[in-house]
Amino acid sequence: MRILAIETSCDDTGIAILEAKGLKRPGFRILSNIVSSQIKIHKKWGGVYPTLAKREHQKNLVPVLSRALKRAKFSKQEAQLLKRVKFPERRKELSFLRKTKELEKILERDPRLSKRLLIFFKEYQKPKIDCIAVTIGPGLEPCLWVGVNFARALAYFWNLPIVPVNHIEAHILAIFLGKEVKGLRLENRNYPFPAICLIVSGGHTQLILIKNLGKYEILGETRDDAAGECFDKTARILGLDYPGGPAIETEATKYRVSDVKLQIKLPRPMIFSKDYDFSFSGLKTAVLYDFKKRKQKTKKSKQYIREMAAEIQQAIIDVLIKKTMKAAKDFRIKTIILGGGVVANKELRRQIIKRIKKEIPDTKCYIPPTKYCTDNAAMIAVNGYFNYKKGEKKSWPDISVNANLKITQS
Ligand code: KG4
Ligand code: ZN
Repeated sequence: MRILAIETSCDDTGIAILEAKGLKRPGFRILSNIVSSQIKIHKKWGGVYPTLAKREHQKNLVPVLSRALKRAKFSKQEAQLLKRVKFPERRKELSFLRKTKELEKILERDPRLSKRLLIFFKEYQKPKIDCIAVTIGPGLEPCLWVGVNFARALAYFWNLPIVPVNHIEAHILAIFLGKEVKGLRLENRNYPFPAICLIVSGGHTQLILIKNLGKYEILGETRDDAAGECFDKTARILGLDYPGGPAIETEATKYRVSDVKLQIKLPRPMIFSKDYDFSFSGLKTAVLYDFKKRKQKTKKSKQYIREMAAEIQQAIIDVLIKKTMKAAKDFRIKTIILGGGVVANKELRRQIIKRIKKEIPDTKCYIPPTKYCTDNAAMIAVNGYFNYKKGEKKSWPDISVNANLKITQS
């Protein structure tokens, strides 16, 4: 079956089209996966500004949809259907006009998006898609609503079911989009559960026990800032660009231990605590204190920025790895899954694989390819497929947003 997925929970507008088959041995083919990033816009503010993000989603969704449809490797015959041709006669059709009225109602909170989508519907035929998957939470509420209303409009116009998706669960299931670390093709394998999963993104840091697909237990989570948030906030203190994770990683890579050391030592909060919780706000405060006490000349120097970046990155990695290993050992679980934007960090990937090989070599580790770690709609499609198979499809009026959506506990 074919799924068209929409992701607008934060500052990335994503639309993907995937083909999916099988359930015990699921296989996915990505026909297209378009992500329009708003980084340039949010850079100025040093973080995501929800009203701005919402406006950008309204602006981007229709162009991203057109690109996703064009990029998708549909068969020749189907591609012909999608060619941008005008259908002047359709505009006058009574059913089209009636649909137009309803569409305006669905998108009454997004009038500009409504106008753009109407033009789109006048020019494009319905593609061969079986359902629409969309992120309903957690995330920024105004942003989630734009995506959900857009999904409702598409589902209504094309007469398709909608499948709601939890953004965090989608980060976990992104592992179905890549190869596992040890090289087996995922299509040839059953579910990699039970597993311990570390989710680290801009808004979440959670250790989750996955008993089976859809059966999750949160073992621990951050008590204050998320790991990604810590990267973003400390990068801002150092005067680095948003998003902070990649900026800190770049600076840390330039750091050489042989350089003259400033002896920066940051805390590893809660690293020895007996639970699986995290805390990163103290780390941010420690960076701020160190920054404040340095001379103007020092804190502007490349040496300081690089050494501090390397130490921030290592402090975060140390805590993440320690707690993940502890959970895997305590629960005697032989599979570790990583997901979320922070997992794009090369040092985190390298160091956790090394530690697993050394300390628990019979444990497998699944890490999605970097582009499926950060927000994207392909992972929403994968999750949408599993939800569809579980019978969780809805008709367009029955779907809503939950900005604080939790992962299903069982
Ligand atoms: O999953 P994601 O794309 O969006 C959310 O759901 O939050 O994660 C974004 C977070 C940001 O905080 C960003 O700084 C961080 O992931 N991030 C990284 C890297 N790339 C993105 N953190 C560390 N190293 C990276 N290479
Ligand atoms: Zn995310």
